[in-house]
Amino acid sequence: MLDRNHSRTAEATAAIRACHLRHDRPLVFEDPWAEHFTSRLWRTVARSWLLHRTIVRGLLRGLRPVHGWILVRDQLTVDELRRFVAAGGGQYVLLGAGFDSIALRRPVWLDGVRIFEVDHPATQAVKLARMAAGGASLPLPDFEAVPVDFERERLAASSFDDTKPTFFAWQGVIYYLSAAAIEATLEDVARVAAPGSELLFDFLLPGFALDRGEGRALSLARLVTARMGERYISYHTPEQLAVLLERAGFELVEVSRDADLAARYCAGRGDDLTVMHGFGIARARRR
Ligand SMILES: C[S@@+](CC[C@H](N)C(=O)[O-])C[C@H]1O[C@@H](n2cnc3c(N)ncnc32)[C@H](O)[C@@H]1O
Repeated sequence: MLDRNHSRTAEATAAIRACHLRHDRPLVFEDPWAEHFTSRLWRTVARSWLLHRTIVRGLLRGLRPVHGWILVRDQLTVDELRRFVAAGGGQYVLLGAGFDSIALRRPVWLDGVRIFEVDHPATQAVKLARMAAGGASLPLPDFEAVPVDFERERLAASSFDDTKPTFFAWQGVIYYLSAAAIEATLEDVARVAAPGSELLFDFLLPGFALDRGEGRALSLARLVTARMGERYISYHTPEQLAVLLERAGFELVEVSRDADLAARYCAGRGDDLTVMHGFGIARARRR
């Protein structure tokens, strides 16, 4: 649970993107801002071939499938957002944005799409400071940062247009939240989302965090994130999510499982990049 500290797991996902850009080929996801956004320690590791080999691919090699999880999640988000925008969607909301950099990279197909980054105030303050330090000219056009602690507050007022179909990404967040915070956030999103809006989020499956076989990488990720002060506390089956979403006014359109995503984004690689077992990515539509 975050309080006054910014999210260390957000820095870790940025570190995974930074290491991927420096050390993996072919790329699943390309984020030139990740190295700047991560912590100084991770930046040093990413920049050094020797440190990366020794630490990331040596001591922490059991976490390699976690890299695949984060990278395929990032690329799927971009692909789904692009499809949604091509069909006429006009706003993009990142819930728990962390150090995502799409607002800075802004591909041409996002021209005119207003981006809202909702995040815990402590993480968002650090991100805005790092954006400025990295040379971004703030305020960015068509961009708004909305600080919200999902455990304590409801989604705040902003320049959001509740008549426009909107794409909401809530990646890397729900397993850190209580059931009450997940339900309240779903209700808030449903309240402001025009019909046809979509919500994309990843979730952890119960029973996979076992310290053996297929659950090994997830067990390690659970240990490491707990050490960072951010515990996995919520696990869901697709059936449970369908009920939660339905209650809030969404229909569950599809669930991509780890194996589907591995086949889509990591097939035929000549290296050891694989996708962790035990998670899924849900796509839901506002009725
Ligand atoms: C693992 S990071 C994921 C960041 C980003 N979405 C990504 O995929 O790289 C978790 C994010 O959830 C946010 N978060 C965790 N608990 C939160 C809370 N109670 N309220 C708001 N944001 C929260 C953190 O600030 C952080 O940005």
